[in-house]
Amino acid sequence: MEKAFLRSEIDRLRREKNAVIMAHYYQEKDIQEIADFIGDSLALARQAAKTQADIIVLCGVHFMGETAKIISPGKKVLIPDMAAGCSLADSCPAPALEAFIKAHPGHTVISYVNTSAAVKALTDVVVTSTNAVQIVNSFPRDEKIIFGPDRNLGSYINSLTGRQMLLWDGACHVHEQFSLDKIIALKQQYPQAELIAHPECKQYIIELSDFVGSTAALIKHVRQSASQQFIVATESGVLFEMQRLCPDKEFIPAPPEDSSCACNECSYMRLNTLEKLYLCLRDETPEIQVDKETARKALRPIQRMLDISEKNHLS
Ligand code: 13P
Ligand code: SF4
Repeated sequence: MEKAFLRSEIDRLRREKNAVIMAHYYQEKDIQEIADFIGDSLALARQAAKTQADIIVLCGVHFMGETAKIISPGKKVLIPDMAAGCSLADSCPAPALEAFIKAHPGHTVISYVNTSAAVKALTDVVVTSTNAVQIVNSFPRDEKIIFGPDRNLGSYINSLTGRQMLLWDGACHVHEQFSLDKIIALKQQYPQAELIAHPECKQYIIELSDFVGSTAALIKHVRQSASQQFIVATESGVLFEMQRLCPDKEFIPAPPEDSSCACNECSYMRLNTLEKLYLCLRDETPEIQVDKETARKALRPIQRMLDISEKNHLS
């Protein structure tokens, strides 16, 4: 289908149906351009909490749609492709986490937002990469904490806070893929460039980086920094927004290990396309459903995160 047709139909349908299109920064450029709202996972959750729309089309991955549905159960939440999952969320099945919690009694459970609703239902407080350090620090220093599922984010938080949280051994297949050798070669090629990385990257990438932060924090940083060039170690979709906000700066995607490709894309995020967005808005399917009891239990730790973030002005 022609892109011009898709754009005008999406525009007509969202107005007729009072739908809002929300997109994560890792979506393809066409989707980011047409979205009513673009954000990181914290911003998308907040937006879902306050939207007046009847339908939320969540252009991101499944756990983001689930989070929106749990926060706004009265709204219809659609996702362009139901197969848009997350390797990090998959690395932590709820029954295995439940057994881990039982094996380590007396621990507070802090889960990254990249988890299923069933995992959130076992959790005391949810975090995103934007607010994780502040939320962990809101607990007493001697609090015993289980943190999951991302081992890289978990050890990064441990190193910043001096804590020894017990870490779930999960990871994201995209952020674990960045090649140290190729990044070092890029740093030699662009000696003035800053290396900036998402905290889901492996420790040796984080240690080499000039700045580490969530997608929203990375975007904020490139706007504020005096540097003109950046090597960006996260999913390459974020470069669209960086380039849009800073047209005179240069953004170089950090390359993955086993690929001839120069940038690193999340295969799940990229399942969503403009055509699938149009079809899902037209047919109102696929729709995200969360079992009522699971949603009830998962809401509490999500709401706790939103409240702490609100109180501390985290964005
Ligand atoms: P953010 O919380 O930075 O949006 O990251 C979400 C994600 O999936 C990172 O891979
Ligand atoms: Fe999940 Fe990694 Fe894709 Fe983010 S980039 S959605 S953590 S698989």
